[in-house]
Amino acid sequence: MKKPVQYLFYMLALGVITTSCAKQPATRTTADTLPVTAPAPTQDTSGSARTAAPAASVAGRGEADSKKPATAKFVPPSESAIPKNEFGESVLLGKKIFMNTQQYAKRYVGNGLNCANCHLDNGRKTDSAPIWAAYVLYPAYRAKTGQIDTIQSRIQGCFMYSMNGTAPAFDSKEMTALVTYHYWLASGAPTRVKMTGQGFLQLPKPAKSPDLARGEDVFKNNCVICHGANGEGTKAASGEYAFPPLWGKDSFNWGAGMHRIDTAAGFIKVNMPYGRFGTLSDQEAWDVALFMNSHERPGDPRFKDSLEATRDKNHDENCLYGRTPGQLAALLEKKAAKKAEADKAKARESDDKASKERTTPLWDGYSPATAH
Ligand code: HEC
Ligand code: HEC
Repeated sequence: MKKPVQYLFYMLALGVITTSCAKQPATRTTADTLPVTAPAPTQDTSGSARTAAPAASVAGRGEADSKKPATAKFVPPSESAIPKNEFGESVLLGKKIFMNTQQYAKRYVGNGLNCANCHLDNGRKTDSAPIWAAYVLYPAYRAKTGQIDTIQSRIQGCFMYSMNGTAPAFDSKEMTALVTYHYWLASGAPTRVKMTGQGFLQLPKPAKSPDLARGEDVFKNNCVICHGANGEGTKAASGEYAFPPLWGKDSFNWGAGMHRIDTAAGFIKVNMPYGRFGTLSDQEAWDVALFMNSHERPGDPRFKDSLEATRDKNHDENCLYGRTPGQLAALLEKKAAKKAEADKAKARESDDKASKERTTPLWDGYSPATAH
């Protein structure tokens, strides 16, 4: 991050951080000052972020569950361990692209975001889709499309939707550097294993249906100070965003994973308000996620024919694409009931299989989401 941006951040962040943050980093750690064992902030919080965490490792995807965590906590290598050779140069370039996509991969980016805005601590943070945990899960078969996703195609997806841009070719310098950075962060990790902290946190279904008016209150009280009254973000004098936009032309588009209300709620619960994460209740996280995603943003580049046709093809997910908040709430209810059924069946099955269980489950059962 450039100096003025960082300065602005400190000024604003110090203003909002309260005294209860002794265990939390008071300011953002830049990659260069990241401690060796990059503590995952989620692990310092008590309450539902923590109790909900094991659910993230099951997430209707298959094999592991809270009774048998997939792997022990993984710690990616520290920045200082990047080798000083040609390989290390590619790792470093990948890190730069990840942190500052605006500068280092500008031609592929169509909004104001950087990869690290959503994959926090430069892709290290657990429950924030850490890229060391992503790397070891690919190639993976995606049930919905019947295709094999590779790490490159996942990265391309984030460029097209989360970054509202265009996909760098598999053999481009940028893609090679990003893959090298992903690979290096996963140094020493087992492959084909769903690691603890992979993906985003899956919050339990909210007690009350997510509500726009309540969400607006949460937003005003907790988010405006950094992300602006109109979700437009806050720019530093340099013109770079010090705080990224949540909606509008410079934000992620309709095809992005963050546009799914459950993904956004999980992200917000774990990571926001920045510096005071863990202070929102689950309900507040759901409400503000709904409010955030009810605003205008760039459209889905796959749009074809009509909203409904595009939704049915690409968005059978929990987003407001062509749905009212009420319809979305009904969809969430339906999915939660289905998941509860599936979990019950799985619990029965795993009791039966318990004696034959491997200690390290293999993840052929993993099916990546359709959104990025
Ligand atoms: C607006 C937020 C956002 C931005 C910006 C973003 N991503 Fe993502 N990324 C996501 C979401 C959401 C997912 C989907 C996670 C899921 O539900 O499976 C994801 C998934 C991924 C995955 C697969 C993760 C896994 O565990 O399967 C990789 C790899 C990835 N992103 C890399 C990148 C790269 C590289 C960039 C920058 C070019 C980037 N992302 C920018 C939100 C974002
Ligand atoms: C103290 C400032 C601050 C506050 C308050 C804050 N955020 Fe953020 N937010 C950030 C920063 C900084 C990032 C980017 C993180 C990074 O790059 O490491 C971010 C990133 C995000 C992102 C992902 C990137 C994007 O633009 O889509 C979302 C979504 C988000 N915040 C939502 C919220 C919501 C909702 C609230 C209120 C509940 C909130 N934030 C409160 C500073 C803040």
